[in-house]
Amino acid sequence: MSSSQPIDSILHETRLFKPPAAGEVGFDAWHVGSAQAYKDLHARSIADPEGFWRDEASRVSWLKPFDRVLEWQAPDARWFVGGRLNACHNCVDRHVDAGFGNETALIWEGEPVAGGGPEVRRLTYEQLRAQTARLGNVLKGLGVKKGDVVTIYMPMVPELAVAILACARIGAAHSVIFGGFAHTAIGERVIDADSRVIITADGGYRRGEVVPLLKNVEAAISLLDSQGHALRDVVVLERTGHVKGAQRFASGQTCGASARLHWWHDLTGAAGEDCPCTPMESEDMLFLLYTSGSTGKPKGIVHTTGGYLTFVQMTARLAFNLSPGAGQIFWCSADIGWVTGHSYVLYGILMNRVPTLMYEGAPNFPANDRFWEIIARHKVTQFYTAPTAIRTFMKWGHELPEKHNLSSLRVLGTVGEPINPEAWIWYHTHIGGGRCPIVDTYWQTETGGHVCTPLPGAIATKPGSCTLPMPGIDAAVVNEQGEEIGANRGGLFVIRKPWPGMLRGVFGNRERFISNYWGRVKDPATGEPYYFSADGARRDEDGYFWIQGRIDDVIKVSGHLLGTMEVESALVSHPYVAEAAVVGFPHEIKGNAICAFVTLKSRWKTEHPGRVPDDALKAELTAHVAREVGALAKPEVIRFAEGLPKTRSGKIMRRLLRDIACGVEKITQDTTTLEDFSVVAALRGDDE
Ligand code: PRX
Repeated sequence: MSSSQPIDSILHETRLFKPPAAGEVGFDAWHVGSAQAYKDLHARSIADPEGFWRDEASRVSWLKPFDRVLEWQAPDARWFVGGRLNACHNCVDRHVDAGFGNETALIWEGEPVAGGGPEVRRLTYEQLRAQTARLGNVLKGLGVKKGDVVTIYMPMVPELAVAILACARIGAAHSVIFGGFAHTAIGERVIDADSRVIITADGGYRRGEVVPLLKNVEAAISLLDSQGHALRDVVVLERTGHVKGAQRFASGQTCGASARLHWWHDLTGAAGEDCPCTPMESEDMLFLLYTSGSTGKPKGIVHTTGGYLTFVQMTARLAFNLSPGAGQIFWCSADIGWVTGHSYVLYGILMNRVPTLMYEGAPNFPANDRFWEIIARHKVTQFYTAPTAIRTFMKWGHELPEKHNLSSLRVLGTVGEPINPEAWIWYHTHIGGGRCPIVDTYWQTETGGHVCTPLPGAIATKPGSCTLPMPGIDAAVVNEQGEEIGANRGGLFVIRKPWPGMLRGVFGNRERFISNYWGRVKDPATGEPYYFSADGARRDEDGYFWIQGRIDDVIKVSGHLLGTMEVESALVSHPYVAEAAVVGFPHEIKGNAICAFVTLKSRWKTEHPGRVPDDALKAELTAHVAREVGALAKPEVIRFAEGLPKTRSGKIMRRLLRDIACGVEKITQDTTTLEDFSVVAALRGDDE
């Protein structure tokens, strides 16, 4: 299964940054204000998990109280059994009921800047309530029932939040697909989820251009038709207004075999605002979110209602020191199409009644200082972004943030991949003014929320380390036998006890759920499975965790997970490609980039006599991958070869290819099982 092993690497990073006093950064107090307070809290959470999680669950609003905190029959957890609640009620209605209906829930800034500046919209809890109720009624009118999966493929506009919360309101699960994915990704996910309804938009703005979302959905509909999947309804928000004239449809018009298209405004305009929140069982599915795996097919990660909400409200509150009514403005720059957006643009922040900022577009539109302008304009207090973005900002220079007043900032967060110490220091110095603590939050789509992170008022930070486990998380670095290993030795990152935000399954694939997450490492004493993250890690002499990255065949490109198989399948679907192998290699900005090794079918030679595979062919293949998977899957480098190095049993030697892609001069792997040494020489370019 693993194609590379954790390493005993030791990054000689010894700088230590003490947490500031709350007042130094503008808070009245820290929720957890000292290392001792953290230690006590964590120790209690491990000694008495039920008591600890019962207390956290009391911050969630239950329509019916739960009877039991946890039923655990590894690997199946049922949290807050017997309880009923509704996620939209928790994020929206309960704040209205408590008298905060006129408070701002969401601040949105559009990308285009015309004349007087960007479009800014603010939604209060009452407006969110009314809009989710209207759309909830629309969905019910279209036949959506409790338990159905609604697919959402939208730009970063407030209606995306409304769509997600409206699903939750009526008890439908949402499956959000990142707007950067292509039609094949939509088709595949819609079929896997057996979803019959898509909510989308005509388009979205990105870097000044229109992304044609509806066109992609229409292409996905042809694909669904060809596979016999009857899509029923598509609700289309008009965002860009570029669908004009003859291309404009009338609500109710059919697209493909069976799908009816409807304009969002036609349906919501006619809908009523009375739509009570459906009481859900604690373990009812709240959402599905697809993530890449080591096989070609993305996995639909299942999250349920009570546990997920309990976990994200806690992790958001503790990691970012959120407090309602205290003038905080939280901004997470992730797209809601990823788990970070689910947990920390929406659910975790709204649960805490702190206004959440949503920005539609790119960091470099119209200029490279757009993010700093946004922070200054809205007086953002907590800012959460990814290392790949920070590295890009570094490249653009510290003069840009220096032009803006960033003094409102109090806590900075990072997520998605290990952050290089130099990027950490730059973020701390130039964005945080040397004042704001940095929370390097390590977690996964599967964990629902943060599992390792410094708590900003309690834990001294070391650049590049996600430091210590979240209260309630029993994390460890172990060997293949499940034994905890000594300081500074590379091992596997595992979680030994269930936690409320953990995934409950891979949609429709029990076998994959068990084999991916629970089949690898066990408690050596009891034989009970540990949650296996597929990340390598080490702990240092202070017990701090240092994540070393994936040990399976997935690559993190700009913080986004891509399965090597997904990209390989896309390449092989091109008429000229016979075989493809994809590996990652270190990239200054993206963290990792993709290198694809490709062999061509004889058809290429026949159709292009005398032509060698050239840049034009590379460009064609790159565009093909972008069309099939999405722009973020584009290979940075394509290398053509006569054959790929394989073991005698026929397995592609990925480690070897990785070495070649990384430009390792001397091939360090044992190549004695190589079928054909000349292949290696050619791939290295020895004969170029
Ligand atoms: O390899 C780890 C890396 O991102 C993976 C999870 O990716 P995904 O499910 O897309 O979720 C991303 C947002 C939570 C992990 O297995 N990763 C995430 N955060 C960090 C990280 N690696 C190191 N440090 C982090 N802070």
